[in-house]
Amino acid sequence: MKIFKIKSELKDFLSQQKSLDKSIGFVPTMGALHEGHLSLVKRAKKKNDLAVVSIFVNPTQFDNKEDLVKYPKTFDNDVKLLESVDCDVLFFPSVEEIYAENIASDKFDFDGLEHQMEGKFRDGHFDGVGTIVKTLFEILNPDKAYFGKKDFQQLQIIKKMVEKHNLPVKIKGCDIYREDDGLAMSSRNTRLTKEHREVAPFIYKTLKKAKKKFGTKNANELTQWVEKQFKKQPLLELEYFTIADEKTLQTATVIEPNKKYRGFIAVFAGEIRLIDNIRLK
Ligand code: PAF
Repeated sequence: MKIFKIKSELKDFLSQQKSLDKSIGFVPTMGALHEGHLSLVKRAKKKNDLAVVSIFVNPTQFDNKEDLVKYPKTFDNDVKLLESVDCDVLFFPSVEEIYAENIASDKFDFDGLEHQMEGKFRDGHFDGVGTIVKTLFEILNPDKAYFGKKDFQQLQIIKKMVEKHNLPVKIKGCDIYREDDGLAMSSRNTRLTKEHREVAPFIYKTLKKAKKKFGTKNANELTQWVEKQFKKQPLLELEYFTIADEKTLQTATVIEPNKKYRGFIAVFAGEIRLIDNIRLK
């Protein structure tokens, strides 16, 4: 696997590959890789000539400084994992290489997608995500880019950015990867205490039960039902559960037969904030 730290060097290498008609599948990450990331890399590898991964803990998307400082960094292990799935190229730039002296986000208009759910709780988060993903797309010029559906709102926002800015890349959403006990894989899971790790599968269990109840209760009743379940679980603090339209991400009050819905959830397990979602229809 080739490792690049300098964007101009990566850019030159990849444009050379493109001139040889090689297609590029890109997986942007913030490192602390797990099986979920590797499934994206395997898919990128299968569908393209080259699989390229970036590891960059993007400061502008963290609204919480402590979360940024404590974000797990496991570079040597990440390299081993990427080599185990035959990743071709790793881009591992420094903050200065990406932002030079100005560590700030651009402002984006994602047609309101950014104001729903995570946008209500994480100020500026999606401007930070938009800034880094657009920058990386401009450096790499990938044919396809792969994102997990755990961050479903992020996925929809990136699709919107690509559409609005006419970026020449296809965005592929990939299914959520889960631990055997159902907890959605996340780099943050390694920061859970033993106690919190034990109760965390309650999140997905509750989502699955809510899915079963969808259609028998209206959206408001189902939301209240989920809120009630979390009141019985003192180690987990529900930040929000909402049933939203997959396309607009707006909270659904009335369920319409021709629309697709998901249940979205954010929960604090101690200091660690976990998100998950489930397809309802
Ligand atoms: O999902 C993530 O890990 C990050 O938000 C991303 C897409 C790599 C941008 O920093």
